[in-house]
Amino acid sequence: MTSAGGPPPSTDEIRAARQLLDRAERVLVLTGAGMSAESGVPTFRGSDGLWKNHRPEELATPQAFARDPRLVWEWYGWRRDLVRECSPNAGHRALARWAASRDGVSIVTQNVDGLHEAAAAEVAAEAGAVGPDPLRLHGSIFRARCTECAEEDTHDCPVDTRERGTLPHCGHCGGLLRPAVVWFGEGLDPATLDTAFRTAGEAGVCLVAGTSAVVQPVASIPLATLRSGGQIVEVNPARTPLTHMASHVLNGPSGILLPDLLAVPG
Ligand code: OAD
Repeated sequence: MTSAGGPPPSTDEIRAARQLLDRAERVLVLTGAGMSAESGVPTFRGSDGLWKNHRPEELATPQAFARDPRLVWEWYGWRRDLVRECSPNAGHRALARWAASRDGVSIVTQNVDGLHEAAAAEVAAEAGAVGPDPLRLHGSIFRARCTECAEEDTHDCPVDTRERGTLPHCGHCGGLLRPAVVWFGEGLDPATLDTAFRTAGEAGVCLVAGTSAVVQPVASIPLATLRSGGQIVEVNPARTPLTHMASHVLNGPSGILLPDLLAVPG
């Protein structure tokens, strides 16, 4: 989505949204690829979401991996290299500081780049304040899972994609490893999803930042907050299917708006 969603928020609009967040005993923060855009990680549906003329939707599928695991690993290798060069932006840092500074915040992310965790580690190192671990709905590009025995572990080393035999294999059973991320057409981990929906149902506010809110079931998580009487605050430079349901829509980049909204340095 690249279309402008409206004028930037006024100071009063930001203050009103902040008051809502401050009053809420529990807040669920749901983030998507736009959260990392200012760190230099391409979003999925933006005009820069292409790689060697392949769309992510063509590569991030079990069928693509079955057909050509080298190509898929090459793409993930490229994304890992790209993300390794990226640092958390002011939005990640503000969110990490805020979440560590009060009770009742849960962070649920669709991002596989680890930048929320990196921001939390920075904040913990600098201020000794430890926030909640983000719930990763779509996995991590720095983990891999065996296609045979399903054993999963951290996998952060370079991948040799010269031939199928040089691709990473399982240390336990020798099966081919795949990136431990959720692909198109695959289900999310039911327990993780359950936790996300339950937490959303308990939250007085769902703060949604940087997601196009078109990929289900995640796009429905904020609706669980609405159904139980809570409200949505959205931060995004473009309109989304959630915009008309939000009590406060802050139109703009999360790296600029979140430090203001959360009243913490980015
Ligand atoms: P998208 O690429 O679909 O959407 C990115 C959103 O971020 C859009 O709504 C943009 O307007 C917004 N955006 C762009 N720059 C921003 C900025 N600086 N600050 C705030 N928002 C900004 O990414 P997702 O919604 O995360 O799933 O995509 C959802 C899922 O689709 C991904 O997790 C991935 C993908 O297919 C899987 O791989 C399973």
